[in-house]
Amino acid sequence: MTIEQTIKKYAPLLKEVTHIPQKEVEILLLFILDKNPIWLHLNYKQECTCETELAKLIKKRATDFPLEYLTSRASFYGESFIVKENVLIPRPETELLVERAELILKDIKNPKVLEIGVGSGIISVILAKLIPNIQIIAVDINDNAINLAKLNAKKFDVEHQITFIKSDLFENVPDQHFDMCISNPPYIQNDFKLPRNVKFEPSNALFGGHEGDELLKDIIDNTVKNKIKFLCCEMGFDQKNSLNKYIAKFNHTKLDFYKDYEKLDRGFVVEFKHE
Ligand SMILES: C[S@@+](CC[C@H](N)C(=O)[O-])C[C@H]1O[C@@H](n2cnc3c(N)ncnc32)[C@H](O)[C@@H]1O
Repeated sequence: MTIEQTIKKYAPLLKEVTHIPQKEVEILLLFILDKNPIWLHLNYKQECTCETELAKLIKKRATDFPLEYLTSRASFYGESFIVKENVLIPRPETELLVERAELILKDIKNPKVLEIGVGSGIISVILAKLIPNIQIIAVDINDNAINLAKLNAKKFDVEHQITFIKSDLFENVPDQHFDMCISNPPYIQNDFKLPRNVKFEPSNALFGGHEGDELLKDIIDNTVKNKIKFLCCEMGFDQKNSLNKYIAKFNHTKLDFYKDYEKLDRGFVVEFKHE
């Protein structure tokens, strides 16, 4: 069977799990063969030599298992990151958080940043690439996340700019000055019923407590306690009112909420005024 015929044969098996079934079969095929899309265009009529391997991956993908875990890759900010099971897959809306942080950090000389919940490392790695004189401490409660983030830091040659520490929120964070705390923490309500595909991702990267915003509130408290001026966070689409009220308790000069690509409330940037 040719490559073209093989793609046509397997695409219908993915119709229930993706709106781009043919594209996903192509991605899996290219992953197995370690080739790029240009190669595929030139070789559609070639014999397909990897049908057995492809069939295995298609079978797994048809259970809603994420494509990114099958290929160990996800793109973020135009770059290809390594991803692994047990660590959250990067989401495109987190690029908006990085953009907002960059706008502030580019005007600070030698900025010092703390990231809470580094996951695969996407936020810290991109900030390190965008701002060469930055120093980041990046923490996570999950060893798998720390190890993966280290791999990505190495891949993008920013290891010298990021120190990784295993920590429950601020617990093991060294007592030093930070200009900014940044976080995309777990913010989903504990009893929320996840879509099938998200169930393959680690629950401690997703659920933020009974209301969902408990970890965000802890991060706000700790940012104030540690006299950090800027806090940039991603949040749930329905958490603006509760977080607005919470932040109002603290002295601040600026608070901006921002929306995601679907025009849903998705995060905030606050500038605290410390005594
Ligand atoms: C939503 S994921 C974000 C990962 C990555 N920063 C991103 O944007 O893709 C949240 C991360 O916070 C970590 N985390 C959860 N609870 C934590 C805690 N108490 N202290 C530190 N990290 C925590 C999880 O392990 C997970 O990697």
